[in-house]
Amino acid sequence: MVKIAPSLLAANILELKSEIQIIEDAGAHWLHIDVMDGHFVPNITFGPDYVKAINNLSNLTLDVHLMIENPELYIPKFAENGADIITVHYESAIHLHRVVQMIKSYDIKAGVAINPATNVENLRYILNEVDMILIMSVNPGFGGQKFIKEAVEKIKHLKSMLPSEKDVEIQIDGGVNGENASELISAGATSLVAGSYIFKSIDKRKAIESLMN
Ligand code: DX5
Ligand code: ZN
Repeated sequence: MVKIAPSLLAANILELKSEIQIIEDAGAHWLHIDVMDGHFVPNITFGPDYVKAINNLSNLTLDVHLMIENPELYIPKFAENGADIITVHYESAIHLHRVVQMIKSYDIKAGVAINPATNVENLRYILNEVDMILIMSVNPGFGGQKFIKEAVEKIKHLKSMLPSEKDVEIQIDGGVNGENASELISAGATSLVAGSYIFKSIDKRKAIESLMN
């Protein structure tokens, strides 16, 4: 079954506790936490302390998406503070293989994300090492942007590259909504990140259900 990962970037920060409770009750599987440093992307968000606070609050899988330069400097802190999955960008990790090994050394799952203009073929020699590939369907940095439709083709391409014996999650992030979810799942996505679509909905439960069906 597809895993729904609401992005807390779109949640009301002043009501974070109840926002998390609502989506947890509604059947969300993971909590997607977008970490931005103002360098790799033109926005600044949360740090390791935020992850620690959320970890004390929720039992959901904490899916931490690092949109930062020099991710190797911060992976230890995010891992110690409760991240269950850490995803780094292909474009920001110069020694990607080493960075992936570093994440795995904390006994948590390792993901690699690619920007909209990055070819999935670039991931061929890291696929055996990762637990998840995140295909960005917007340019990273902000919630509420329009879905870039080439992402569908990229999911299919990636799926055809995956070794059959290995279980690798295919996550899609950016502009996901009730309209494009089924096409993304049919193409091969196993995890959908959705920020605005869920948190700006009046009925968050219904929004989550519509992504799953
Ligand atoms: C964008 C982030 C996304 C973002 C998605 O850089 O990685 O996780 O929160 O937000 P929506 O679903 O609103 O596009
Ligand atoms: Zn994200």
